[in-house]
Amino acid sequence: MPLLIRHGRIVTADSDFTGDIYCAGETITRLGRGLEAPPGTEVIDATGQFVFPGFIDPHVHIYLPFMGTFSRDTYVTGSQAALIGGTTTLIEMCCPSRADEALAGFELWMAQAVGKSACDFTFHMGVTKFNAAAEPQLREIVRRGISSFKVFLAYKGAFGVDDTELYRTLKLAKELGVIVTAHCENETLVAERQRELLAAGVTGPEGHHASRPPQVEAEGVQHLCTFAELTGAHVYCVHTSCAEALHAAVAARQRGVKVWVETLIQHLLLDKSYAERPDFEGAKYVMSPPLREARHQAILWDALASGLISTVATDHAPFDFQSQKSLGRADFTQIPNGIPALEDRINLLYTHGVARGRLDLQTFVAVASTQAAKLFGLFPRKGTIAVGSDADLVIYDPAYRGKLSAKTQTQAVDYNAFEGWEIEGRPSVVTVRGEVAVRDGKFTGTIGRGRFLQREPSHFSPD
Ligand code: URP
Ligand code: ZN
Ligand code: ZN
Repeated sequence: MPLLIRHGRIVTADSDFTGDIYCAGETITRLGRGLEAPPGTEVIDATGQFVFPGFIDPHVHIYLPFMGTFSRDTYVTGSQAALIGGTTTLIEMCCPSRADEALAGFELWMAQAVGKSACDFTFHMGVTKFNAAAEPQLREIVRRGISSFKVFLAYKGAFGVDDTELYRTLKLAKELGVIVTAHCENETLVAERQRELLAAGVTGPEGHHASRPPQVEAEGVQHLCTFAELTGAHVYCVHTSCAEALHAAVAARQRGVKVWVETLIQHLLLDKSYAERPDFEGAKYVMSPPLREARHQAILWDALASGLISTVATDHAPFDFQSQKSLGRADFTQIPNGIPALEDRINLLYTHGVARGRLDLQTFVAVASTQAAKLFGLFPRKGTIAVGSDADLVIYDPAYRGKLSAKTQTQAVDYNAFEGWEIEGRPSVVTVRGEVAVRDGKFTGTIGRGRFLQREPSHFSPD
């Protein structure tokens, strides 16, 4: 059914006006004021509300075999949670183990999503080993519509690649015009510090951040940028958590390295005191890179506002507190890493960014949607409100007041890291390619309607 959204304050990364949006089929076909509704059109009055482009989470894990267990969400639960929170496109990390072949891994991740996802999706292809067999498979995966890779400089023995593999991955990416996203931590430093802390009797969750101080992450960023500089590849540092890592990226950018920076809503809002909570409660807040001292948060917010940081993601990695985080009760190195936030990213970013005056509306849309679309080859199909764009829209009610809680969430995990936090605003209506998928916090969409978004490589630069 065609859809007319009337009298909304339509905000994109570069415009802000009050008007109407008409959607026919799956796309936006008209924008203006006083648009007519042909018979059979659903009309939604958005007076007093914002209309934003559908938000994009550029870093999520829905299916994640990791640290001896599996993340809890499926595409059925995860995509509904995303939509309720205003996220209409997911970019998941496809993370085969080093024992698996890249192409088989890609097909396995695809099978988790196709026919199950209610929102659109694509993948960053994890390059967890690079050898003669992997290279043609990666070329084939790019031919099938993937235009970004993911490498881990951490997680020794699991997903981590060595320097030869890193160099060859970046060379291939440069040739293919594919951007390489990277988890930047020095895995040797992490492993050595973990060993020392355990030997000294530190076994609780607080050992996690002690094992991965800011220098460990900054070294990872510096390392990646050196390799990017010498190969000419375009790189993107995921989940940047601290001033030191940000400075390493900015310094590289100043000398011409094509590097972009992502931060997480968790690193903007939570500090390491959460991971120091007693009675193993801190395990809920174990992720990598770890939560930092609170002083880093203002630096991250400023970098978002000034454009040094391009995107805010979640790195959603949901592991139950009771049955999964508890695997590390006797040894913090065994706590599955991850803090879920997929459902709450936008409401938290709006509340603590826009409503607190840290971000203007344009920047909010840019960091939560448009920049990801541009960096990862989805723009202008996604990430904006324009004639011809997919009709992925979020009608956002800034007058809504509520509290976050595990009791009321849709994401499939037994805790909420932001339990009891107040939010000021939420999506009242969310559409996916013209279908109303959420109304007043309730999912109304269609499981399985989500589509794999084929992308073309877009990161070619003159030598
Ligand atoms: O702690 C985290 N970040 N867990 C998910 C895996 C990753 O490193 O992205
Ligand atoms: Zn990571
Ligand atoms: Zn991740």
